[in-house]
Amino acid sequence: MNSFQARNQFSPAMSPIKQIEILASKIPGSISLAQGIPSFETPVVIKNEIIKATNSSKVSKYSLNYGLPELRMLISDDLKKNNMCYNWEKEIIVTCGAAQGIAATLLAIITSNKNEVIVPCPSYASYPRMINLAKGKVIFSKMQKNWNLDIEDIKNKINNRTSAIILANPNNPTGNIFKKEELKELANIAIENNIYIILDEVYKDFTYKDEEFYSLAQESRYKNNIIRVFSFSKAYAMTGWRVGYINSNEKIIKNIIGAHDALITCAPVVSQYGAMAALKYGKEDQLKFKEILNKRRIDTFKYLKGISLFDDVVIPDAGYFFFPRVSKEKNVDSFVLKLLKNKKIALVPGSAFGPGGEDRIRICFGQEQNLINKALNIINNSCL
Ligand SMILES: Cc1ncc(COP(=O)(O)O)c(C=O)c1O
Repeated sequence: MNSFQARNQFSPAMSPIKQIEILASKIPGSISLAQGIPSFETPVVIKNEIIKATNSSKVSKYSLNYGLPELRMLISDDLKKNNMCYNWEKEIIVTCGAAQGIAATLLAIITSNKNEVIVPCPSYASYPRMINLAKGKVIFSKMQKNWNLDIEDIKNKINNRTSAIILANPNNPTGNIFKKEELKELANIAIENNIYIILDEVYKDFTYKDEEFYSLAQESRYKNNIIRVFSFSKAYAMTGWRVGYINSNEKIIKNIIGAHDALITCAPVVSQYGAMAALKYGKEDQLKFKEILNKRRIDTFKYLKGISLFDDVVIPDAGYFFFPRVSKEKNVDSFVLKLLKNKKIALVPGSAFGPGGEDRIRICFGQEQNLINKALNIINNSCL
């Protein structure tokens, strides 16, 4: 536990997001805009392929620990379409969601003398816990006020014990997409210092700007330093199936496969068939999800702007979260707990995402719009 985790009101043992969901599950009629779960069902085209695979006895046995070859070939082809060149056999591991991919990576790369991991924050609440699990030390680096990276601060925090920098791009909870220039600067720093960047791109399919999404994994010169993580959870409404993958160079993947194997042997085979169907037939549904999310983003933004409790309400460029400041409330952790207990609305306090967002709150717009409006209406009309 670090001093930041010790200060906030949730147990440091588990992400506050999950703690809030557990509390909310015990309150009948509560509305959760807490965890990042899209309201959508897994597309029928994916479910049908899963049923077919199940009925033709393809899912009863382990796959290779790297994952089904057919799936890795499809992943490699899909990466190629996005200008990323990764060998299906040696440079891809199918994981149990992004979460397990990141955990396996950290377990593999953190050693007793290379144990520090820099976490630019605010960022995904589980990273520090995963680093702790791998016996690493969390080194927070606060982002700038516009949520861009503070490159100077990151540079100052690198030393000979630094193993990696972990970054979600697009970012959760801020909804910011990092600029190509700052990402390249970060990659050059990683090369100079011989450290990794764990690049978590689980929200890359939900960007609302016209610009094409840029990944450092598109450039071969960064390949030795980038461990890219992706997941089917968000992109194809498959959070329950627990399937994702990591791609990196052969040597790094060889190192990570041992930890992956020790943890889970292989990703659930039934879900790997779901992932194959997603890559083959899921694009149309994904685009529909994006259109719906974009509408929710715009409608929720208009609504949030009118709620005096919130200020600095910024429309996110990606993902499905707002991260406004909570005016007048000195302790957002207590406010969130009161909101849940008294008004049955679950949100996430900014403190969950590391230093820099303590006066903020995360609101997920993955839920149906009527539920979002209902929850915001209650918040707007309540004095706690
Ligand atoms: C940034 C980020 N990375 C990883 C994950 C975990 O995703 P998965 O369901 O693939 O484990 C989440 C889930 O909310 C996330 O927000």
